[in-house]
Amino acid sequence: MLQKLDVDLWEQAMRVVTHLRPVEYARLTPDLIVAFASPGFATVLPQPTAVIEGQALSDVLWEFAGLEDALTAVFQQERPIFTLERINRTQAAGGSRYFDFHVTHLSVPEPGLLLVAEDVTAWGALEQELVQERNELDLLQRRLAQANEQLQRLDQMKSLFLSMAAHDLRSPLTAVAGYTELLQKNGEMVSPTKRSEFLTIIQTQVKRLNRLIDDILNLDQIERGLLQIERLPVDLNQLVQNTAADFAYLVARNQHNLQTNLTEDALVLPIDESKMQQVLYNLLSNAVKYTPRGGEIQVTTRREGETAVIEVADTGLGMTAEQVSHLFELYYRSDEVRSRKIQGTGLGLFIVRSLVEAHGGTISVQSEPDAGSVFTISLPL
Ligand SMILES: Nc1ncnc2c1ncn2[C@@H]1O[C@H](COP(=O)(O)OP(=O)(O)OP(=O)(O)O)[C@@H](O)[C@H]1O
Ligand SMILES: [Mg+2]
Repeated sequence: MLQKLDVDLWEQAMRVVTHLRPVEYARLTPDLIVAFASPGFATVLPQPTAVIEGQALSDVLWEFAGLEDALTAVFQQERPIFTLERINRTQAAGGSRYFDFHVTHLSVPEPGLLLVAEDVTAWGALEQELVQERNELDLLQRRLAQANEQLQRLDQMKSLFLSMAAHDLRSPLTAVAGYTELLQKNGEMVSPTKRSEFLTIIQTQVKRLNRLIDDILNLDQIERGLLQIERLPVDLNQLVQNTAADFAYLVARNQHNLQTNLTEDALVLPIDESKMQQVLYNLLSNAVKYTPRGGEIQVTTRREGETAVIEVADTGLGMTAEQVSHLFELYYRSDEVRSRKIQGTGLGLFIVRSLVEAHGGTISVQSEPDAGSVFTISLPL
């Protein structure tokens, strides 16, 4: 039996500890007999036992049977502690509780052993939650790393795009600067025909610049999900005619033949005129660029039921099925056009498809290497 002072001391210490994790305890004699058990010690036993004190430890806690040597080693202070972890106790009311048993040397009030039974049920659940949260955290971290990688890739693409766009913007500017300087310095010596030719070049290049800037602004709107379509009734034939006319200079310079075959049907539909012009501009610019000198370019309009169709056909480089499958990806350019050093940023068709789809339309392509390409746009009337 513990003396009064010991009991007080123990109880005070245990109140602190059990506040953290519920604890029961017992004092054992050196020959492993229970000398004292805390009031709730019965709750850690596998079976109800009326009298605990005076019993052999292995009779009340079967888990300790056969462990006498280890416990004696603790008593002789050859090892500091002996622990049995996560011992399961099925509860009458259902469910399980888990206990950790720790045995340490005890020198007061007389030499023996202290057995502490710690209820780690809640602790175990917490640990499990912690493991789960750590797993979730790991997953989040992995996702974050992936997103980061993607952002870096996009960032690199953006830098690449900026340098290419700057390059694209500079070439029309160089032409404009060159021809204006020529007219300014040698104006009197330039014949009226030449003067008008130079002015056409300047005008064409200024329009090209304008459209490049529109492309960049459109891309920005598409990427931020802010693309706005302002619909007004537009005569599609008229729009095709005007846009084709804007290409007269480029077509002539490349010795192409550009033909428009416009339907007699009235094709007036509610569309965003400047955005649809951007679509046509991109398709025509591709047809001119990717067709070797002296090619045939045809723009056709027709009505198919409740659909207005625009076709842009060329007799140019054409594409393999593999190339066509990447055609509408942002920044995609075929190896073919890269190796031929034909200028471009791979923006055009991505924007074209976004604009056509924003109008509720579709775009499709038919192409074969060296046999030209046909781009077909369908718009609901
Ligand atoms: N008419 C065409 N004939 C052959 N290849 C084409 C044609 N149109 C597009 N392509 C291929 O598709 C790629 C993507 O075209 P897209 O218009 O998106 O970009 P780009 O012309 O390279 O540059 P950008 O239009 O931004 O100046 C081109 O680089 C080219 O490889
Ligand atoms: Mg293009």
